[in-house]
Amino acid sequence: ATPSGPYDAVIIGGGPGGYVAAIKAAQLGLKTACIEKRGSLGGTCLNVGCIPSKAMLNNSHIYHQTKHDLQKRGIDVAGVSLNLPQMLLAKEQSVVGLTKGIEMLFKQNKVDYIKGSASFVSATRIAVQLNDGGSTEVEAKNVIIATGSEVAPFPGGAIEIDEKQIVSSTGALELQKVPEKMVVIGGGIIGLEMGSVWSRLGAEVTVVEFLGAIGGAGIDEEVAKQFQKILAKQGIKFKLNTKVLSADKHGENVIIQTESAKGDKQETLEANVVLVAVGRRPYTEGLNLEAVGIEKDSKGRIVIDDQFNTSVKNIKCIGDVTFGPMLAHKAEEEGIAAVEYINAGHGHVNYNGIPSVVYTHPEVAWVGKTEQELKAAGVKYNIGKFPFAANSRAKTNQDSEGFVKFISEKETDRILGVHIIGPNAGEMVSEAVLAMEYGASSEDIARTTHAHPTLSEAFKEAAMAAYGKAIHF
Ligand code: FAD
Ligand code: NAI
Repeated sequence: ATPSGPYDAVIIGGGPGGYVAAIKAAQLGLKTACIEKRGSLGGTCLNVGCIPSKAMLNNSHIYHQTKHDLQKRGIDVAGVSLNLPQMLLAKEQSVVGLTKGIEMLFKQNKVDYIKGSASFVSATRIAVQLNDGGSTEVEAKNVIIATGSEVAPFPGGAIEIDEKQIVSSTGALELQKVPEKMVVIGGGIIGLEMGSVWSRLGAEVTVVEFLGAIGGAGIDEEVAKQFQKILAKQGIKFKLNTKVLSADKHGENVIIQTESAKGDKQETLEANVVLVAVGRRPYTEGLNLEAVGIEKDSKGRIVIDDQFNTSVKNIKCIGDVTFGPMLAHKAEEEGIAAVEYINAGHGHVNYNGIPSVVYTHPEVAWVGKTEQELKAAGVKYNIGKFPFAANSRAKTNQDSEGFVKFISEKETDRILGVHIIGPNAGEMVSEAVLAMEYGASSEDIARTTHAHPTLSEAFKEAAMAAYGKAIHF
């Protein structure tokens, strides 16, 4: 076939990393194509990740609140019941709306959207197996690989995912019936978010976690403890320091064998649905990386330098398929920086300024260093903590669980980390990210006016506590 192009930039993968890179490249005047095989843009995040999970989290929260929380607020409702097909449809509608929106943005910005599977022929030539049948080739001066990640299978093949009784996050987003009993393997972000959804809709949820704490990598230990207490109060059961060995289907049920982390105690659990949420792994299948000699590490991640270059000169790589946290906003920042390197020779991502958010209720959010990391590094620090129970708005909202925790450097008062568990933590953490980007001290925040009565006053008061004293606690 005669190759189309030549393009200045070809992006493989249309997820948050790839589609943002493509739009940015076109905006900078580069002739750009994005190859995506899924049949819709937005990648894992928009199709089976961030967006559908947040739709289910938001609507299950409203349902649960309507059922259990409205009466004390003076709102009497009768006959509240779950219409699961409608809730799933609402989720589907947000996904379709947003993925179609990206197609519009591609058109507006003149990005060529090629629907098919990309495979390297050489460093500058890519073969595409088209979704509609047939194939084509594209010629590229620069390539950005943004092929993302996939569900990590259970180690050793001991558990087989059928997406009905034994599900990954993808199947957990489309259960057609609320399971009576659900066992979640892994107390990381997916386990806690999806466990919350089905618990609110009526399932009896047990989370089995190998480690001694929930929340996954990077969470502050104090926050993790409080988080677990709050979720347990909501009805989620936890088995920590416990390893799942196997899960086998027996008719309508799944039998799960567990063992204590030390290996001295075994237990059998029963569930209707098991969610396997033990992590994700980089996805490079079918790319034919061997043809161009692109290097991967032992975890299957594409190896890059600090300018996103792979081992091949004109090929860069971003997002879940390479190093760093598997987060949509991290992939987006890298997409922009990688394109800026191609266009102008420089770009930048501050990896210390990437926030993490768990969208449960209350939300958990953090940025920067944890207390345990600073201790291990021998850094001297101050802590400022403020509970939402002492914040007027949280109190009047009758939603006051959690706290804001500031960690600042002892000598300079510079903010090193902020950890929040509480209502709206995911929005609030942006203020911490901005402060850290500008090298703020906790006193800078403490002397910044925050409107009254807002939840953000808890943020300000935690900053006050870090360099002096809070007023209301
Ligand atoms: P992806 O989004 O995985 O996109 C890669 C795309 O490349 C895919 O669409 C794939 O089809 C395509 N592709 C792969 N190979 C080829 C090929 N050879 N040819 C053509 N196309 C190809 N992150 C957050 O920040 N916030 C959240 O709330 C959040 N929630 C999540 C919830 C769930 C249930 C899951 C599973 C993930 C969640 N994530 C969240 C993580 C987030 O989805 C990822 O970090 C993000 O999607 C990574 O973006 P990416 O562009 O690197 O890859
Ligand atoms: P994770 O890495 O966050 O958590 C997996 C957990 O499973 C770990 O705590 C691990 O100790 C535990 N585990 C592993 N094997 C086990 C076993 N045999 N028995 C018991 N426990 C075991 O992975 P998760 O939750 O699957 O999420 C994958 C990624 O998706 C996250 O790291 C995150 O980057 C992304 N994501 C982000 C979201 C957000 O930003 N809100 C939401 C959902 C996913």
